[in-house]
Amino acid sequence: MTILLTPRTRIRHASEADAAALWRFRMENRAHLAPWEPLREERYYTLGHSAQTIADWREAIRLDRGYAFLVLGHDEREVIGTFNLANLVRGVFQACHLGYAVAQRWQGQGLMREALESGLAWAFGPLGLHRVMANYMPRNERSGRLLERLGFEREGYAKRYLCIGGEWEDHVLTALIHPRG
Ligand SMILES: CC(C)(COP(=O)(O)OP(=O)(O)OC[C@H]1O[C@@H](n2cnc3c(N)ncnc32)[C@H](O)[C@@H]1OP(=O)(O)O)[C@@H](O)C(=O)NCCC(=O)NCCS
Repeated sequence: MTILLTPRTRIRHASEADAAALWRFRMENRAHLAPWEPLREERYYTLGHSAQTIADWREAIRLDRGYAFLVLGHDEREVIGTFNLANLVRGVFQACHLGYAVAQRWQGQGLMREALESGLAWAFGPLGLHRVMANYMPRNERSGRLLERLGFEREGYAKRYLCIGGEWEDHVLTALIHPRG
């Protein structure tokens, strides 16, 4: 099992035993995350749905299709955030899309930057990726700033790109390429 340690976080894949912690994260951050995510059905906010998400994540890992991580404190008492190296394609592409979210009460402390620096080193190292793509809505300044700090470069602008909160929203397209080519 992959475990990444940073000064303030412990980062690992979720297991079945994490369903309640993920559920709590979703419930506590429902209003905070809603503007940046797809419209969620009520079922999303149930323990059963969090358990299903974790089962889906584990299956994606098994198939080498995506790698979701929980960002925890060192004591593992709480989910601080999550990130996902999703839509992974091998062959001549060796690329994925990156998604991430941090709990409202842990925002603005550089925690996602700390977690992603480690996650991206893992993606370009052991996972063998060449390109990680991350896209954000122009009004999500915090997310844009985070990506810029991590070295992501703007590659384009896609109109009506993702259906967020029930609306097709424009997105800035960015990517980070393997540091050694
Ligand atoms: C985007 C998100 C993950 C950032 O997490 P975070 O832990 O707060 O990020 P960090 O503290 O590591 O870095 C955020 C950067 O934004 C800056 N920032 C903080 N508050 C800000 C604000 N109100 N407006 C713009 N930038 C802000 C920080 O100073 C930091 O930049 P710096 O390194 O140049 O100082 C978090 O805000 C979040 O979960 N948002 C909701 C979900 C979301 O938007 N996901 C991404 C969808 S693309």
